[in-house]
Amino acid sequence: MTTTLALPPVARRVAELREQVDTWRKAGLTVALVPTMGALHEGHLTLVRAAMSHADKVVVSIFVNPIQFGPNEDFDAYPRTLDADRAALATVGAALVYAPTAGEMYPQGFSTAITVSGVSAGLCGDLRPGHFSGVATVVTKFLLQAMPDVAAFGEKDYQQLQVIRRLVRDLDIPVTIVGVPTVREADGLARSSRNAYLSPDDRAIAPALHRTLQDTAVAIRAGAAVDAALEAGKRAILAAGFASIDYLELRAADGLAPLSELDRPARMLVAAYLGKTRLIDNIAVEGV
Ligand code: PAJ
Repeated sequence: MTTTLALPPVARRVAELREQVDTWRKAGLTVALVPTMGALHEGHLTLVRAAMSHADKVVVSIFVNPIQFGPNEDFDAYPRTLDADRAALATVGAALVYAPTAGEMYPQGFSTAITVSGVSAGLCGDLRPGHFSGVATVVTKFLLQAMPDVAAFGEKDYQQLQVIRRLVRDLDIPVTIVGVPTVREADGLARSSRNAYLSPDDRAIAPALHRTLQDTAVAIRAGAAVDAALEAGKRAILAAGFASIDYLELRAADGLAPLSELDRPARMLVAAYLGKTRLIDNIAVEGV
């Protein structure tokens, strides 16, 4: 026997979202928000499950946010699969999809930007100018629109998670941010909507990114000099078949200060191109 799961309803307007959240609140229910750009995969669904363990109702926003894409990035090509996304969200019990139009989010005359200095600098921040301001602005809007108790974000985008933790603290936004560990394929490749762009040959090379992070972390924990280990890691990534590397760095896990020694809990972060596809990944490196 097959059962058909009810698809979560879709709110297109802020007013509809607020009305639904208000109804839940009046019934004494708590609310979590999971912001996404859609093309949902197991990584996103894990975020929804994590959010459900913290609140009664989970809202998933689906919005390909134009202001976080650079002029030469993949905004137009970014996959838009709302029907499939709703079907996937039905299987994990999301209560509402919030899929605003660009006009609803950025009406004529929109002029405000949120900029988080410090954690936005370096790594993806230098290579994608304006990206984290675009993320911080849209996430601030989502938090103010939904006013959730909890919002869940993936460690897959570790710098983004740090930017959001900082902005919530700085602006006193009354929400608990939950960070969720990266969901990976069996071979270690971090799940990403952009993996769909990879050719079969590139897909076979892609796990080298995670493997190199692990090997480099092992070397550093065993006492190798950080800079030399990172250089060796970069050579390994290129030797595996990646076209170029944006960065491979060791940073403080909290606040992302650059580290030349493993003297506190750290994060190793990488971004590299496989053909035209830019992949990112990161892992925790315990202090010694
Ligand atoms: P998007 O890339 O769709 O990711 C939505 C959320 O899913 C982010 O918090 C991201 O870190 C998380 N995620 C993606 N892949 C994951 C994986 N393999 N394991 C665990 N979590 C994963 O990130 C964005 O959208 C946007 O910048 C957004 C925050 C929605 C603002 O527009």
